[in-house]
Amino acid sequence: MRVLVTGGAGYVGSISSELLLARGHEVTIVDSLATGHRRAVPEGAELVDGRLVDGALLERTMRERGVESVLHCAARALVGESVADPALYYRENVGGGMSLLDAALAAGVRRLVFSSSAAVYGAPERTPITEEQPPAPVNPYGETKHVFEQMLRWYGEAYGLRGVALRYFNVCGASELLGEDHHPETHLVPNILRSLSGGPPLTVFGTDYPTPDGTCIRDYIHVLDLADAHLAALELTTGGEAGLLACNLGSGTGYSVREVLHAAERVTGQRVPHSYGPRRPGDPPVLVASSENARQVLGWTPARGTLEEMIGSAWRWRQAHPQGYDERREAAAR
Ligand code: UFG
Repeated sequence: MRVLVTGGAGYVGSISSELLLARGHEVTIVDSLATGHRRAVPEGAELVDGRLVDGALLERTMRERGVESVLHCAARALVGESVADPALYYRENVGGGMSLLDAALAAGVRRLVFSSSAAVYGAPERTPITEEQPPAPVNPYGETKHVFEQMLRWYGEAYGLRGVALRYFNVCGASELLGEDHHPETHLVPNILRSLSGGPPLTVFGTDYPTPDGTCIRDYIHVLDLADAHLAALELTTGGEAGLLACNLGSGTGYSVREVLHAAERVTGQRVPHSYGPRRPGDPPVLVASSENARQVLGWTPARGTLEEMIGSAWRWRQAHPQGYDERREAAAR
């Protein structure tokens, strides 16, 4: 299959591209490198350096490469930034997404898998969260993900597009070659590992949540399991009816911040330098997915479900890449 991967120089996009290539597919990546890294582009993938809003470039790329399906991972993805600058999120996640859909239709491509987010649910009242729960995003990031899902749905009905939206929860871990390198980094696991590599100590945000140990509970998923699900979703778009299928991706098991911290201590054999701070605004106490739908419809079950596997792989990657992907930081360190 010839696949266009948007955001293929980012964390989830690069590792999904790596898996596509390993399974014998052809991969063309479109990435503006605004938040992605040239060095995250896996060997064997072609990189087209461009922006999603450039519809002419997208259409030309799809036509010239004979693209059959799209894996759409490119997005602005920082909740706090989205609240401070919603225009950026509407412009890139919604405007860029619309440009992508129009280019795909013009090039005759009718299959698309969208890397969506659990952020579409906002702060749901019931867990585990099923796809039947109505989306109610609480920030512009989640809202723009939801808007694009709705576009997929209506474009599906009107133009015969077959779309799958993968709503995933807390991704972590690494492959042998590729890992997570965000600027700024806001996520728990990389922040824990950074604190173990001479970075600032971890701040645990809030210890007074209504959970057994007072810290937030999240559903963690290994990035390689996520990549597996993206491939399964792409296969699914080869047949079936037009329209949108939404699938949660999680393990169904929640871990608290303290549990993740202790797992990291077991994996690395070191004490995690940390302190306790106030709650981070907007953090719901518990987010755990029901992945029943993913099991039934995608035939997907997470194969690397323990915190030890996830954190262990992220730790190995970090030790092999102490400066991440950044060429400038590497040069400065020399
Ligand atoms: N946390 C800390 N200290 C840190 C970082 C995080 O205590 O330095 C805590 C957070 O408060 C939260 C948990 O660790 O309780 C997980 O936080 P992350 O930032 O790693 O992940 P989130 O659950 O906030 O975010 C995830 C996705 C987002 C998505 C959101 C949906 O990464 O893309 O779920 O609510 F929007």
